[in-house]
Amino acid sequence: MRATVFALGCLLASAGIVAAQQHGHGSGSAGPSETRLFVKLPDMMNSHMLANMRDHLLAVQQIQAAMAEGKWDEAAEIAEKRLGMSSLDSHGASHIAGFMPEGMQAAGTSMHRAASRFALKARDAGVTPDWPGVTAALADVLQACNGCHAGYRTR
Ligand code: HEC
Repeated sequence: MRATVFALGCLLASAGIVAAQQHGHGSGSAGPSETRLFVKLPDMMNSHMLANMRDHLLAVQQIQAAMAEGKWDEAAEIAEKRLGMSSLDSHGASHIAGFMPEGMQAAGTSMHRAASRFALKARDAGVTPDWPGVTAALADVLQACNGCHAGYRTR
């Protein structure tokens, strides 16, 4: 699956096809009050991205469960590997990113950075307890999720 998405991404990118962007004309538009920018991704790439999004949410849940048990290293590792800068390769971000407008790419980058910052905070918390600091760092991650969701849609 990942290999196919990769191949598709490269094929389309090299063919010079640029993702069309428009307001409110995609399938599934939420109506006239829709303010999110519609970003057209190839179908397979979109389902790959959405699967990835569901994993993001799962990761957040698993991070919180680890925090609740005081497993700071585990929380840090989930954040870094599944959401942080280290996750970029594993989810083929660079291929999908080529189809995203700049602002959306930036929103993705700030989410990945926030997750890596959270991972550092969580590791520190294993040594020096800091619930408020770690919780705030996790809130920053979720704020970045919400920032992108507020601005863009792909269906
Ligand atoms: C760079 C932009 C971006 C970032 C950052 C982002 N998302 Fe998303 N996410 C999207 C888009 C676009 C959709 C599709 C929304 C639509 O078209 O209605 C989506 C959809 C989802 C969905 C629905 C998946 C489905 O199968 O329908 C979930 C869950 C989700 N995101 C969770 C997250 C979580 C959790 C984070 C942060 C850890 C996150 N997202 C960060 C862009 C982003």
